[in-house]
Formats: sequence, structure tokens, C-alpha cells
Amino acid sequence: MYILAIESSCDETSVSIIKDGMKEVSTVVLSQMDTHANYGGVVPEIASRMHVENITIVIDEALKKANMKMEDIDAIAVTYGPGLIGSLLVGLMAAKTLAFIYNKPLIPVHHIAGHIYANNLVKRLEFPLIALVVSGGHTELIYMKEDYSFEKLGSTLDDAVGEAYDKVARVIDVPYPGGPLVDKLAFEGEDTYDLPLPLNDDSYNFSFSGLKSAVINLAHNEKQRGNEIIKENMATSFQNRVVEILVKKTMKALKDNNVHNLIVAGGVAANKGLREGLKKACAEESINLIIPEMKYCTDNAAMIGAAAYYAYQRGDRAGLGLNAKAVCELK
Ligand code: KG4
Ligand code: ZN
Repeated sequence: MYILAIESSCDETSVSIIKDGMKEVSTVVLSQMDTHANYGGVVPEIASRMHVENITIVIDEALKKANMKMEDIDAIAVTYGPGLIGSLLVGLMAAKTLAFIYNKPLIPVHHIAGHIYANNLVKRLEFPLIALVVSGGHTELIYMKEDYSFEKLGSTLDDAVGEAYDKVARVIDVPYPGGPLVDKLAFEGEDTYDLPLPLNDDSYNFSFSGLKSAVINLAHNEKQRGNEIIKENMATSFQNRVVEILVKKTMKALKDNNVHNLIVAGGVAANKGLREGLKKACAEESINLIIPEMKYCTDNAAMIGAAAYYAYQRGDRAGLGLNAKAVCELK
């Protein structure tokens, strides 16, 4: 089954053709990052306009790369949410139009299901598993007993981890995109700043706003004393706390639920500190760990095409009335 998938929830216009939920036939990702970097973050209005300009070009390119025609495609998949509403609507409109004209089934995909199924492009998922979802909008621990079944164990009570990275980056004068650059700096510094380990309790929930505020307060205090903070050391101290709590709660979730398979999903899965921390802990506990390749960590349509195959098998179909949702639960 060949699925043509469209992802446009934020600032990447991406189209992919995926065979049977596992094989990537072609993927095109057009990133708007350079444009948004001028403003220090994604500007929603500009993002939607750029999706409009690019979507048909990206669809054509993905088909050309696969050496396929629309007639060869069995179904159309699209991210319906969560994300920026204007951005989502562009991909959704394109997907609905293709489904209507070529009379193909339309499969709605939750963005986070996509991030989770990015791992299926690396290796077929084995169940039961725990998914650690870490992105700009999400920090969640999810239990999956089988394909396309999502049970939330815990989530962040305030900021998502990627959001905290981006805010800390601003405070320590690291340019956009903050997350990857803070990650890089963290490997150049030392853990010298006294930052708290956030929400260090027995729950599966997370909290990053306190840690973020601690960084902001430290930076302000140093400034008032006429001192400069050492960016590298702040990055290391911040990243160490984040990785420690993420690894600790993830390992607890695996143990409490007697699960031996762990997958990591979302943009922050690209974080080198987190990858190393999880690899080490999983090796010690004999846990099978899958982390997507870097190119599948950030937003792309390949992951949407992979998820769509299993959504389709579950019976998920949408009509032309399908609407975009800025916020929606993973079910
Ligand atoms: O999944 P994603 O591409 O978009 C959302 O669905 O949110 O994740 C983007 C987030 C941003 O906050 C970005 O700063 C963060 O992932 N990120 C990182 C790294 N690479 C991306 N955060 C920490 N370390 C990284 N290497
Ligand atoms: Zn994402």
C-alpha cells in the first residue's frame, strides 16, 4: 500500500510516499527555518503563506523522486493537528483536494502519532512499549500495548521540554533555533551552575518552567553583579538536569509497567545529551531502545505516512469535512 503523506503543522512543508508503513519511497522537506530565523522564532502568518507557495511544488517533487503518478497512490494521509492552524490548513486543503480528485481514502494523522511512528521507519515497533515524546509542544510518556493504541502515563504540567530549550537559549543569547545550539554548547561547558532537578517525584509528570525560571534568575543576578554568565556552563548545567529527569522518569515507567521496549519521538529526540543518557541507562537495564535517525526526529512527512498505514488498519478515515485542530489529544 502506497500512502502519500503531507505534513505542514509548523514551518516545514513536507510530502512523502511510504510503502506499507515501513519503507520510505521518497520524501521532500522544505524548511522555512532561514526565513523565521530573521524574527527569532516561527511567525505563523509567514509560515502559512510559505506553505501556500510551496505545497504543490513539494507534492510534485515527491512524486517525481519516487517515479510515481497520483494514480499509483492508494491513500492520502495528512497531519490534522496539533500545530499552527494556518499552517495545518494548507496541508489539509491539499490532501482533501487530492483525495477528492483522485478518489482516494483520506487518513487523518495526529502529529505526535507521526513522531512515534518515525521509529517504525528504523525498525518495526515491538509491543508493549513506552514512548518518550519530547518536542516543542509535548513532553509525554505514553504506553502502547499494540499498534495505534496510546495510553498517556504522564506529561508536562507547564512548558514542553523543547519550549524550555528555546526560552533558555534566548536568555543566554543563543540565536534561533535555540534547542540544537544549546545542545551543542552543553558539550563544550561544565556543570557549574546550581540548578534544581525539576519535579523530582514519583509521578510520570514533568515540569520545566521552574528550571527555566532558575536559569533566568541566575542570569539576571549575574548581570546585576556586573558578571557575564558562561553560556557553555549554563547550557551544560541546564541540559544535565533535563536529561537526568527525563531518563529517571522514563526508566521508572519501563520498570513499573514491566516493559522492555523504549522509543523516543519528537524534535528533542535529536538531543545528543538525551540520546547518550538513554543509551547508557537502557544498556544497564537491558531495554531495547530505538531512536529515529536525526532526519526523522524533526518534522517530516515520512513519519506521517508510516503512522497513517496503521491508522488506516485501525479504520481511521476522514471525509472532506475534516478540519485542522490547533490542540488535540492523541487517541
Ligand atoms: O518536533 P519538532 O520538530 O516540532 C514540534 O512538533 O514541536 O520539535 C521542535 C523542538 C524545538 O523546540 C527545538 O528547539 C527542539 O525541538 N530541538 C532540540 C534539539 N533539536 C531540536 N532541543 C534540544 N536539543 C536538540 N538537539
Ligand atoms: Zn513535531
